[in-house]
Amino acid sequence: MKAENVVIIGAGGHAKVVADIVLLRGNHIAGFLDSVHPEGEFLGYPKLGGDREYRKFLNCSFIIAIGNALARERIACSMPEAAWYTAVHPGAVISNIDTEIGEGTVIMADAIVNPGAHIGKHCIINSGSIVEHDNRIGDYAHVSVGAKMAGGVQIGARTWVGIGATVSNGINVCGDCMLGAGAVVVRDITEAGTYAGVPARKIK
Ligand SMILES: CC(C)(COP(=O)(O)OP(=O)(O)OC[C@H]1O[C@@H](n2cnc3c(N)ncnc32)[C@H](O)[C@@H]1OP(=O)(O)O)[C@@H](O)C(=O)NCCC(=O)NCCS
Repeated sequence: MKAENVVIIGAGGHAKVVADIVLLRGNHIAGFLDSVHPEGEFLGYPKLGGDREYRKFLNCSFIIAIGNALARERIACSMPEAAWYTAVHPGAVISNIDTEIGEGTVIMADAIVNPGAHIGKHCIINSGSIVEHDNRIGDYAHVSVGAKMAGGVQIGARTWVGIGATVSNGINVCGDCMLGAGAVVVRDITEAGTYAGVPARKIK
């Protein structure tokens, strides 16, 4: 497969991990778009301007490496002509049986995605997390480091599953939720908000 030239949007810690995956996959980093600090270098690659300047680089593919789901959604929607790069770490385990991974999604090292799991666009499936069989992960969702979703779980758009959280089998979590670090979700969550604890309860 021909190596791609990839423009990474964002230049923080998450962007470092995404850059690592791009290189491990044998692709090239053209540079970084960074609306906060649009000039200079990051990781030895040039800053190419702010994300509004993406049209100068339409010969490249793009990936949004920003942790905030609303920011990822806003930027993705503002770039209708972009071709999106999907970053799958070579050390992630992705089943070949009926799995779907949306454009612009990042899957990090040691993540496991099992048969029948469908992951939306511009998601983050972080290091060592488990997306079990038949999960549905909504667009822009983030499954943090070491979080575990049992079979048949549904996670709504923009929901952030905190580090080490667990979602029991068949549970539905609606969009725009924050599940706290270490939360154990054993009942459906139907109202946006922040949930934490064992079992998880709404705290905000
Ligand atoms: C849940 C969370 C978002 C709440 O943050 P916050 O809105 O700033 O809330 P606060 O820190 O003010 O805490 C509010 C209350 O909830 C409790 N609480 C916060 N996080 C908790 C958690 N994960 N589990 C249990 N209780 C928690 C606090 O102790 C506090 O209780 P108190 O009112 O009795 O003192 C945050 O604590 C958290 O867990 N973030 C996850 C970060 C993460 O996973 N990062 C992943 C990077 S890959």
